[in-house]
Amino acid sequence: MIERPRRLRQSPVIRAMVAETRLHPSQLVLPVFVAEGAHEPRPITSMPGVVQHTLTSIVDQAHRAVEAGLAGIMVFGVPETKDARGSGATEPGGILNVALREVRDKVGDDLLVMADTCLDEFTDHGHCGVLDAQGRVDNDATLAVYAQLAVAQARAGAHVVGPSGMMDGQVGVIRAALDAAGFEEVVVLAYAAKYASAFYGPFREAVQSSLRGDRRTYQQDPANIREALREIDLDVAQGADLVMVKPAMSYLDVVAAAAERTTVPVAAYQVSGEYAMIEAAAAQGWIDRERAARESLLSIRRAGAQVILTYYALDAAEWLG
Ligand code: PBG
Repeated sequence: MIERPRRLRQSPVIRAMVAETRLHPSQLVLPVFVAEGAHEPRPITSMPGVVQHTLTSIVDQAHRAVEAGLAGIMVFGVPETKDARGSGATEPGGILNVALREVRDKVGDDLLVMADTCLDEFTDHGHCGVLDAQGRVDNDATLAVYAQLAVAQARAGAHVVGPSGMMDGQVGVIRAALDAAGFEEVVVLAYAAKYASAFYGPFREAVQSSLRGDRRTYQQDPANIREALREIDLDVAQGADLVMVKPAMSYLDVVAAAAERTTVPVAAYQVSGEYAMIEAAAAQGWIDRERAARESLLSIRRAGAQVILTYYALDAAEWLG
């Protein structure tokens, strides 16, 4: 007798019935950029369809996210001026904090307002932390700034803070600072396993990054997975509510291992370069944009991610419609 797995693939109805994994807009988060001083949304060349928003257009985008039933938006700020300490990140009048306040004001609790809790968009050297006299990223001096940053973002209305700088001890320091300031309810989405990746290329254009060199002294080596599990354990022990793996597609083994290991929900970030690759190939007519994007998102879910940050979030909600 021939075993016939194909029997369960013979029609759309039976395929849907046995589908093990599904995508739903409620599990998707849209990353968005807001630029200080912008009067018009500005296209980002390497990310077709993605823009740097104005303070007005980011609110419109947040309303679209609500209508699409997305979980949230992750907001990144693009300041007009930068300094060594990244002061624009912590100041209440800094572009990211202003945008968070504006969006939270308009959407209330209909959408999770998430903040990138990092300094790289705001520092003139482009690193995720402050530097010591030798020009190295100073871990503990950075932690003190992150504590202020997370509280400033919570004060501005963020439901969720997303520490993405890969400093040792950042989750614990941020949790303690939030609690001390009365923000026990603010959620920490820890970028627990964030790799030093070439796939962040287009993002650096999106935020007009000043970085020269790389982030290999704080972001992880793509060669390692045990190290990722260690980072995840540390972040969970320090109070992370969710842990994130980033990028997604080249690190699905890490997503799967994270889901296996922890009891907190696992998120994955389909980063700018992953988006740009699909867009570029689709623009050439070499792959089908919708099918490729959906397959990539489904794969990330199958690997074990509960939540996906993706520039396709609004498109996906429409496709799933
Ligand atoms: C750091 C940060 C980066 C991304 C998200 N948060 C850039 C970096 O680590 O260099 C990249 C996201 C993407 O590529 O889509 N604040």
